[in-house]
Amino acid sequence: MIDAEALMREAREAREQAYAPYSGFKVGSAVLDADGTVSPGCNVENAAFGPTICAERVALTGAVARGKTRPVAIAVMTEPGVTPCGVCRQVMLELGPDMRVFIGNGEGQISETTVQELLPGAFGPNSMPEPTAD
Ligand code: THU
Repeated sequence: MIDAEALMREAREAREQAYAPYSGFKVGSAVLDADGTVSPGCNVENAAFGPTICAERVALTGAVARGKTRPVAIAVMTEPGVTPCGVCRQVMLELGPDMRVFIGNGEGQISETTVQELLPGAFGPNSMPEPTAD
């Protein structure tokens, strides 16, 4: 059983580490692996803007770096309760297409969606034929 509230608490805690001096918009995330490991993420901005990385991708790539490659759920926490950006949706499709996706807001409300719902008609890992030798 996945405890959405517990995972959202981890995302809320991760949000406290957000480095967002340019937008002031703090995002926290937490990825739950099948073995119970939780990998946190927060957004980390950059003066050059382009290198900014979202909380979801920090959490997802952090899980990979820990060897936790069976993500079963991701929680994303922002004050207004927004859904992930397009780039994060694409990375979610790559690393955790079957994850449950929990979206939380500052009032403690949690809604649930899926990667499929967030990125319909996606170009994903199964969209290309196997590479040939030539
Ligand atoms: N941000 C995230 O961390 N996740 C999202 O899905 C949307 C945007 C961050 C990036 C940037 O630091 C700030 O929110 C404003 O875009």
